[in-house]
Amino acid sequence: MAASDNTRATDLIRNEHRNVETLFQQLEKTTEPEEKEAIFGTIAVEMSVHSEITDKVFYPAAKKAIGNEAIVVKAHEEQQHLKTLIDQLRRLLADLDKDEFDSKANALRAAAEAHWRAEEEELLPAVEKSDLDLVQLGQQMMQLQQDLSGAGLGSQGPM
Ligand SMILES: [Fe+2]
Repeated sequence: MAASDNTRATDLIRNEHRNVETLFQQLEKTTEPEEKEAIFGTIAVEMSVHSEITDKVFYPAAKKAIGNEAIVVKAHEEQQHLKTLIDQLRRLLADLDKDEFDSKANALRAAAEAHWRAEEEELLPAVEKSDLDLVQLGQQMMQLQQDLSGAGLGSQGPM
């Protein structure tokens, strides 16, 4: 993660979206089952951590700052849906159901991309127009990210 200490919260989110996007591209290219499992493990961890820091830090601050609860609630709900898909994929991996895994992984990618697009077109620009201190918020997010990795959330993947 190349985020410097002065990265704005909104740019942090964009960077994370691009990072997971790249992982999905790698997942699509690989046919090797073990590699697939490893890449999906990384995607699952990255997306879970991202979900935690946006739910706990970014969304609550955004809700207060932009005075439009609806787009924040929508982003949160989309993210809950992504979490459900990730859990289903984890189970499919455990059952070694490869065909079902591939189609569900594609569904996860499509849902994630739609969510990122919505956030980047609506929510993030709205937050950037508000008077929120985005650098400070970014620092809070990075702090929680570190705490979560320390707490073992970062080691769930099959490494
Ligand atoms: Fe998100």
